[in-house]
Amino acid sequence: IGQAANVEPNFVSTQNRDSVGSVKQQLSKIFKVSLQSTFPNDVDIDPLVSASTKFADYQCNNAMGLWSRIKGKFTEFSNPNSIGQAIVENLPPSEMVQSTSVAKAGFINIVLSNVWIAKHIENMLSNGIREWAPIIPVKRAVVDFSSPNIAKEMHVGHLRSTIIGDTLSRMLEFSNVEVLRRNHVGDWGTQFGMLIEYLFEMFPNWEDAGQQAIGDLQEFYKSSKKKFDEDASFKERAQRAVVRLQGGEEKYRNAWKQICEISRREFAQVYQRLGIHLEEKGESFYNPFIPDVIQELSDKGLIEESEGARVIFIEGQSIPLIVVKSDGGYNYASTDLTALRYRLREEKAEWIIYVTDVGQQQHFDMVFSAARRACWLPDPKGNLYPKTNHVGFGIVLGQDGKRFRTRSTEVVRLVDLLDEAKNRCKKELQQRLENNGKLGEWSEQELERTAEAVGYGAVKYADLKNNRLTNYMFSFDQMLNDKGNTAVYLLYAHARICSIIRKSNRDLTELTKSGSISLGHPDERILGLHLIRFAEIVEEACMNLLPNVLCEYLYNLSEIFTRFYTSCQVIGSAEETSRLLLCEATAVVMRKCFEVLGIEPVYKI
Ligand code: ARG
Repeated sequence: IGQAANVEPNFVSTQNRDSVGSVKQQLSKIFKVSLQSTFPNDVDIDPLVSASTKFADYQCNNAMGLWSRIKGKFTEFSNPNSIGQAIVENLPPSEMVQSTSVAKAGFINIVLSNVWIAKHIENMLSNGIREWAPIIPVKRAVVDFSSPNIAKEMHVGHLRSTIIGDTLSRMLEFSNVEVLRRNHVGDWGTQFGMLIEYLFEMFPNWEDAGQQAIGDLQEFYKSSKKKFDEDASFKERAQRAVVRLQGGEEKYRNAWKQICEISRREFAQVYQRLGIHLEEKGESFYNPFIPDVIQELSDKGLIEESEGARVIFIEGQSIPLIVVKSDGGYNYASTDLTALRYRLREEKAEWIIYVTDVGQQQHFDMVFSAARRACWLPDPKGNLYPKTNHVGFGIVLGQDGKRFRTRSTEVVRLVDLLDEAKNRCKKELQQRLENNGKLGEWSEQELERTAEAVGYGAVKYADLKNNRLTNYMFSFDQMLNDKGNTAVYLLYAHARICSIIRKSNRDLTELTKSGSISLGHPDERILGLHLIRFAEIVEEACMNLLPNVLCEYLYNLSEIFTRFYTSCQVIGSAEETSRLLLCEATAVVMRKCFEVLGIEPVYKI
């Protein structure tokens, strides 16, 4: 079979992709140089640089680990501290670093130069925030998200997948990764036999009446399911219909297409409202490739018979992964294995990310293990690419602490939910403007747009700000509160910064060209330092697939800005130019955070 080697030849290491990168990455580079000259026989030491919470801006923590490696051997070093000292002495000259000091335990405290921080921000303002994109060691990724099922409801779980998946895609895209945004819709399964047969029997003129005949697809699904469960001969006809559909008979394929089209239009409404772009490659897309995949897995000796089914046993799992059912049909796992191979071989993805509820964790663990056994993927321990991740999330709870439902239907219609968020925002906003005597300054269109931005933004942010694995409670009152960690608070904070800039009556483009930043006041420096950490936060959020890290950064930015604005007068002060540039930089970074979180910014309130 020509698969002697344990790994496929295109597996690549995570390092060695050069560019400027985040502050942390830039510091790592100069420490790498020093480590190489301090330990010339050991060129592969990874610099351990991290943001520091207390004593400095950053720190380098290599000395302790190195000491435990060389302790007892004959070297020039007598303790971790002496290693730290040597690393500092060998640091190449750099404008970034103001000073360093070595703690007794050996770690190195790094203080950045104020002048450099200011320059770094000025450069970003003149060249755009793309300058601050982190370096991610991947060129192309697949993000498999949203992925609702045709004819079944798109529920709040799918909403979570949609919001989280979109943000992950945006984070990666900002980091210059090409992202294939895949909607792996459930458009191929045994339920279609039932739906098609029901359509033929109940609506003989379906070809003309078509989509009107079906009407509400969820109702249609329910009534056909009822007949399927109650009527044995219907059930049999439905099963025959699946075979004919999968055999490619035209009439059956046309009916299938019609049914898919109705669902697709419903999904599109949600995506449009949320400003989300996805490319559909549903389960049916992979169907023709399944036999070849099964053949390959079988040739590689992975497939065994078990109770009439063909399965793959996975070490550490009590049940095997079924890849061909006992009736000879394919299932969710056969499709996922095929999609995975397609994404690796045809689409050349280096990172494949699946966003579903945590309930599917085991399924993905098994699929990934099978792929490793097939040598499609390297051993995860090697930190090599391509790699796969399942991004699981918890369930959405209602006020009662149970799975989120509304009174009228078992599931919440997503479109209604978004409408409600928007309508509540609009009311609030009108009230607020009324109270300030400003309602007259707003056009109806402006009101609408702002309410949409804030309302949809609030729904997204409430979902993203928590660690995705925790269940979270859906509460309009909480997410629409204008105090605390909500999109409403953050969007208004941004609008306030914009109004400070407007009130100054200065031309920001001009200021960006001619003005410069100085960080004399401690609160100015804290703000500057937080701003330049943006890239490494995006990097962390990307690498760990945790959007909440970015939310936390954004919320802190807003708090740090408030502190700065309270202690430092902007307009009319001697430092007006520098401080306006800091305001502008804060607004730019906030907007990029909003953009990456899929939230539309607001410029006035
Ligand atoms: N359609 C599935 C569901 O609603 C999610 C699909 C996730 N993606 C995948 N490649 N299995 O649960």
